[in-house]
Amino acid sequence: MTSVEEAATGVPVPLRINGREHVVVLEPRVSLLDALREHLDLTGSKKGCDQGTCGSCTVWIDGRRVLACLTLAVAASGHEVVTIEGLADGDQLHPMQRAFIEYDAFQCGYCTSGQIMSAVKVIEEGNAGTDEDIGEFMSGNICRCAAYPNIRAAIRHVRDAAGGRS
Ligand code: FES
Ligand code: FES
Repeated sequence: MTSVEEAATGVPVPLRINGREHVVVLEPRVSLLDALREHLDLTGSKKGCDQGTCGSCTVWIDGRRVLACLTLAVAASGHEVVTIEGLADGDQLHPMQRAFIEYDAFQCGYCTSGQIMSAVKVIEEGNAGTDEDIGEFMSGNICRCAAYPNIRAAIRHVRDAAGGRS
């Protein structure tokens, strides 16, 4: 088999997503975002730019927020990936998901999964102390519907409900 044929055929890539093991046959060039969306039907992570500037593809790898469009799927192998689909506990929304609904923190919804995945981490990272901090540490997530004030309100709510830890 030539290397071109090998590339076209792909290699089995074990991926652990939202606590479940998958093996996906992928060309090594395939991004984690495309693996999620095109191969695993996890379409909650969005592709707004595919070059690391919009944040709509934000997922967690080993508990840290990362841009799935700039992460090769093969590089995520052996790591714990969490997407927006893994955030709710059964029918129970994550508090940040509930807060986004309560505070009307989205309109079209396209940036929202990335916003929520980032927002949870902004609090965990201790960067949600002030509105300025929230703005700064959420600045990697762009929202063309300009839901920013409501996104900040949702984050403040979750921060304060968690006892002001930030
Ligand atoms: S799609 Fe990844 S940052 Fe825009
Ligand atoms: S809700 Fe539309 S881009 Fe953010």
